[in-house]
Formats: sequence, C-alpha cells, structure tokens
Amino acid sequence: MSVPCVRVSPQAGEATRQALADADLVDDGHDITVSDGDLYIPVTDAEAVPDEFEVVAFDAPRREGQTMPADILGYEPSYERLGRIYILDEDDAERAADIANALIDCDLPVDTVVNRASKVKGDLRVRDWEVLAGAGTETVHREYGVEFLLDISTVYFSPRLATERHRVVEQVQSGEHFFDMFAGVGPFVVPAAKRGATCVGCDLNPAAIEYLRQNAERNGVADRVTAIEGDVTATTDEYAGWADRLVMNLPHSANEFLDAAVALAGHDCVIHYYDIQHEDDPFGPGERAIRAAAEPEGYTVSVETRREVRSYAPHELNVCLDVRIRRE
Ligand SMILES: C[S@@+](CC[C@H](N)C(=O)[O-])C[C@H]1O[C@@H](n2cnc3c(N)ncnc32)[C@H](O)[C@@H]1O
Repeated sequence: MSVPCVRVSPQAGEATRQALADADLVDDGHDITVSDGDLYIPVTDAEAVPDEFEVVAFDAPRREGQTMPADILGYEPSYERLGRIYILDEDDAERAADIANALIDCDLPVDTVVNRASKVKGDLRVRDWEVLAGAGTETVHREYGVEFLLDISTVYFSPRLATERHRVVEQVQSGEHFFDMFAGVGPFVVPAAKRGATCVGCDLNPAAIEYLRQNAERNGVADRVTAIEGDVTATTDEYAGWADRLVMNLPHSANEFLDAAVALAGHDCVIHYYDIQHEDDPFGPGERAIRAAAEPEGYTVSVETRREVRSYAPHELNVCLDVRIRRE
C-alpha cells in the first residue's frame, strides 16, 4: 500500500531523516527504503512536511511486527496527530468509533482519539471535541525540535501550520524584538526565542498564556520571553515603537488590530499578517488595510512575500503577507 514518503538522494538521507525526526514527522510503521537510486523516508503527515522536501506516494514496506490501523480496519484511515492525541474529522459515528478502536489497538503511540465536534469559534478560537477513546486532552507536541505542552480543549493549536511557522521563524535574527500579538501557547514565540530574539507574546486566553510560560521554561528560553494575558490593544502604551517583527495570526479579524500593530512597530518592522480571503483576490484586502493603517503614520510599506498557506474552504485561501513598514 502506498504511503507518503519524502524522496531524497541517499547522500542527503541522514540529514533529511534527522530534520523530519526533529519535526516528529517520521512514520515508524514503515521502513526507509532505497529504490532506483532514491531514498524514500515514510512520513506521518504529508502536509506538514517543509516545502524544501519532495513528498511522493511510495509503496514502503510495513515494518515487521508493527500493527498499524490499516491492518485492523482493512483501509487507510485519515487522521492528524498532535503529540499522542489522534484527531479525526469523521461525520459517520460508526466509522469514527472503528478508527478510534483501531488506533488504540495498534502499535502507534496513542493516548487519546478525538473527533472534531465544531469549527474553531469565538475570540479564543477553541474547538469542541468529542473524545472517542482515552481521556486526556493535554499532550506534548514536538515541532522542529521544540516541545509544546497544550490542551486542545482549552487552547487553539494547529499542527498543520508547522511549515508556515518554521518559514517565519527562520527569518528571525538574534537580538531582534519579536512580538506575537495572538501568541497562543507559543509556537512562534518559543522558537523565535530559541534563535536569540527577545520576545513578547500576548493572548486573551489565560490557559494559552499559562502554557506559553510553561513552554518557554520547558525549552529553556524563559529569560527571553514575556507572556502577557489580555487584549493586545492594551499593550500599545508599554510597547509603543518596540517591535522589529510582529506576528498577526488571527486570520478573520487581524485587520481590526492594524492600528495596534502600527503603534507597536519600530521604525523598521516586518509584519507577518495572516488573512482568509476569496481566491480571486487573496492578498489585496490585507495589503490595502496595512497601507491604510501605516502610511498616514509616515511609514512606507513594501510587501516582501505573498504566500498561500493553505486552502481554507472552497474558493477561500488562508494567506500570509510579509510586509516591511519603515519610516525615518
Ligand atoms: C488563531 S489563534 C493563533 C495562536 C498561535 N499564534 C498559533 O499559531 O497557534 C489566535 C489567538 O489569538 C487570541 N486572541 C484573540 N483575540 C485577541 C486579542 N484581542 N488580543 C490578544 N489575543 C487574542 C486567541 O485567544 C487565540 O489564542
């Protein structure tokens, strides 16, 4: 049976396997295989694999002695993994229960299986979950060598954004002032602090801020992270003109916080602005909103990157604009 694999030259094999292992993406249920001069490394989540790697479907042999969900079910189920929590998106309750039982009975490291029970909702962007097997909804998730403790029932977290977060964090310079306006449990802040930035993360959700503090400790960067609980608009006096880089990952309403972003920005600041827009003009509304907020304050605005992050809904895209605003 074909499974998603990263295809690389054998010479790049060990470095690639290590990079995928750091991101917790290596599928231990299938063997790494050489075929026709290429190496195939099975991965657990094709969409989370960084763009620099090529993902192909390949018939990698099942690892001896490992029982996988497909062995029990007779078909390959689809699921997302967050630490030891396995996440389903199944409408059919019987099928969901079968997959949950197979996950618990197989040899994968599974504590809990949940099904999506609502969309992300409200200001805190937390989803309802139906727990199908196991009990706990707190887990430790690894992403690019960083550990995040979080509870999916109290905070927002999407493992699908790992590649995008990595893209942003790779731009961070040691010593810069990094401000995440909607920080969650710290998936931008903690790796940015690991690169040597001085970081501030703000969030309305007290549970997210408590995890952000714990995650900063857990990854040895608490001395470079300030976690602020509350509405980010309340931080603009204390941090006026402070930020070299701002992350705005609140896609449906980031435009409402652009005045706060401009107030936080230093004289030369990069804003990573996330948006959800129709595919006909995915970047225009965000760019116009940033110009409308920044230009009257004397900034020149240049768009450095226009990136489609993922499809959000039919004809709707989740996009990111990397925008530099600068003034004398
Ligand atoms: C889409 S989540 C992003 C979290 C995190 N950056 C990530 O990538 O996982 C948006 C976050 O913004 C927070 N939030 C919403 N409105 C806010 C506000 N006015 N001030 C600060 N945080 C806010 C929510 O609680 C939520 O954790």
